[in-house]
Amino acid sequence: MGDSLFSIAGKTALVTGGTSGVGAMIARGFVRRGVKTYIASRDAKRCRAAAAELSQEGTCIGLAADLSSAEGPQALAALLSQHEERLDILVNNAGANDRSAIETATPEDWDFVQDVNLRAPFFLVQHLLPLLRAAATAESPARIINIGSIGGLHIPNWEAYAYGASKAALHHLTRALTKRLGADRIVVNAIAPGPFPSRLTDTASEAVKKSVETYIPLKRPGEAEDIEGLTVFLASRAGGYVNGCTIPLDGGYLAAL
Ligand SMILES: NC(=O)c1ccc[n+]([C@@H]2O[C@H](COP(=O)([O-])OP(=O)(O)OC[C@H]3O[C@@H](n4cnc5c(N)ncnc54)[C@H](OP(=O)(O)O)[C@@H]3O)[C@@H](O)[C@H]2O)c1
Repeated sequence: MGDSLFSIAGKTALVTGGTSGVGAMIARGFVRRGVKTYIASRDAKRCRAAAAELSQEGTCIGLAADLSSAEGPQALAALLSQHEERLDILVNNAGANDRSAIETATPEDWDFVQDVNLRAPFFLVQHLLPLLRAAATAESPARIINIGSIGGLHIPNWEAYAYGASKAALHHLTRALTKRLGADRIVVNAIAPGPFPSRLTDTASEAVKKSVETYIPLKRPGEAEDIEGLTVFLASRAGGYVNGCTIPLDGGYLAAL
């Protein structure tokens, strides 16, 4: 009985940025639980290689797409539509960072971060609505999971203006989508991770280690099973009534500030 409550087997998912870091952890968690999982990133070769590796545990397909362009989300939705008529789970995870100081930040860097972190999730939802609606039922709503950041919930000790603003806006967008899409039986949540090992965050660096030790009550960075557990929960029947939330996944960091 408990197993079916948390089961996601037989569903179909798209994880943007599923070739690396947090997205790869989420994708692996889905694949090994019987979810047909599409992963997308800019680099076609890396997509193929990551999909082949994940396919050792189930079914994973790589789709190349650049989500920083205005056309990228529509192009990715069109690619997915060639393979699928329904989509149960969309994870908007692909992200970009910029740590420019206030004196040196440029409009180009600002736009790039907003385009990948905020514009792409919105327009991917817009273009994937037909597939999400086709999968959604009252008993089993479709799910959208936006990967935000604790950087969108507090002001860090370093400068990250474009990044923090994009993630705060993504959390806000999550609530706006929740309000609109409930009628379509689509559940929308965001996860706000603290530090997890990835290309964006080198958790082995002395600076990150020191900050983890100082600020995170559990004294460790996030691990694959932490993000895997929360995304599987949100995608399963067990998480079906959690809607419109931004859930910090940070070992207690925000609570202890
Ligand atoms: N790691 C952390 O500590 C942490 C903390 C809080 C929030 N997050 C969030 O978690 C998400 C994943 O980040 P990560 O840390 O796992 O970083 P990562 O290891 O750099 O992974 C980013 C992924 O996104 C893809 N990507 C980047 N730009 C893209 C674009 N324009 N179009 C399509 N795909 C793109 C990358 O593939 P390509 O480069 O091949 O395109 C890669 O697969 C981000 O939204 C990030 O803000 C991470």
